[in-house]
Amino acid sequence: MSVIVVRPGAALSGEVTVGGAKNSVLKVLAATVLASGRYHLHNVPDIADVTWMSELLVAMGLRTSRPAPGQLVVDSPIDVLPEAPYELVEKMRASIVVLGPLVARFGRARVSLPGGDDFGSRPIDMHLRALAALGATVELAHGFIEARVPGGGRLRGAHIVLDFPSVGATENALMASVLAKGTTVIDNAAREPEIVDLVTFLGQMGAVVRGAGSSTIEIDGVAELHAANHTLIPDRIEAATFLAAVGVAGGEVLVRQARRDHMQMLVHKLDQLGVQITAGPEGLTVVAPGRLRAVDVSTLPYPGLATDYKPLLVAMLSVADGVSIVTENIFSGRFRYVDELVRMGADVRTDGHHAVIRGRPWLSGAPVRAHDIRAGAALVVAGLRAQGETTVTDADHIDRGYERFVEKLQGLGADIERK
Ligand code: EPU
Repeated sequence: MSVIVVRPGAALSGEVTVGGAKNSVLKVLAATVLASGRYHLHNVPDIADVTWMSELLVAMGLRTSRPAPGQLVVDSPIDVLPEAPYELVEKMRASIVVLGPLVARFGRARVSLPGGDDFGSRPIDMHLRALAALGATVELAHGFIEARVPGGGRLRGAHIVLDFPSVGATENALMASVLAKGTTVIDNAAREPEIVDLVTFLGQMGAVVRGAGSSTIEIDGVAELHAANHTLIPDRIEAATFLAAVGVAGGEVLVRQARRDHMQMLVHKLDQLGVQITAGPEGLTVVAPGRLRAVDVSTLPYPGLATDYKPLLVAMLSVADGVSIVTENIFSGRFRYVDELVRMGADVRTDGHHAVIRGRPWLSGAPVRAHDIRAGAALVVAGLRAQGETTVTDADHIDRGYERFVEKLQGLGADIERK
């Protein structure tokens, strides 16, 4: 069991570099089943989720290697076993994004159904409806999704309207339609920077896609794609974690590679909290001169405030001056970590989708448990302003999404160690 111990210390200072986006690289890796050949990927973070997605590719017959830090090479063969086993999907729900590309290229796929998780129930109905709209038959049997194109041919272009701009459903629909016959239109598509990054990669593979980053994406299916190289965009949630750490601990830090254009709404919110952010050619400089101010926060699909920032914001608001109301609009169950923050002395009350936070000058160090990646990171951040010692257990959740998290915070002067 991995444990991180953190104590409050001096204000943070210096610089830290953000790695490639987890939620981009996982989808880019899934896309490598769309065409055989060798792919060179750059700015790939060394995190557990990438290892697991690589294991899934290997289980399907692909080969992966890490020739140098930040680089990942994928060899995709002509024949792939279009199956994602329970053991791997159960570890990482994002594995579901292999469904679309597998059906697109091989006319069939068998992918384990992901279960619920610490955010509550996580349905995939939109993913399956999108595939059905493209002409696949989709059946659920014995815990698996069995999708196939009747007659074994190609999917066919269709008009897909998503009920909600789901990131995963948009990505599955996109990767299913790039090899379909004819044109596909995805309406109410997700607009996240990671979708744009995936589309950039698909474009390099020969896909014809218009409108990424808007609510309507159009795809002209092509007969064949080819392997390509790609450099991943920086991880905006990792960047936000360091901005939050400075917000909580105080100080001045240059967060290298952080892109303001991917984080406009967060930068705006942080400004209201009293955290100053300046964009420069190398990244974002963050200065937190004094006690934070309470603000209300509401999560929304991009370009709204991402649900992934919310645990970090709740940690910051727990030590801000005043009362804040936080509303979760994406994942109903995403308040579980609040109980852990309360163990650290935070005054937070939740009711359904809402949390009311009465800020305190200090929290109180305590043993707490990381339930998921972002919640775990937020508990560490909270520990920077908790008198005494905070011990975060199950810290391997954090390793799913953060490379050298403890070392990076140590580099900024934080009093933190892994035990
Ligand atoms: N939803 C449905 N039906 C579906 C798909 C989604 O009802 O078929 C609902 C979900 O239950 C949720 C909402 O739609 O209420 C949005 O879910 P979405 O599909 O957008 O989420 P996701 O693709 O499963 C990705 C990220 C999450 C991030 C959300 C933000 C990856 C691997 N994961 O999840 O990131 O919070 O988008 O929408 O890209 C993380 O990085 O730690 C993380 C959890």
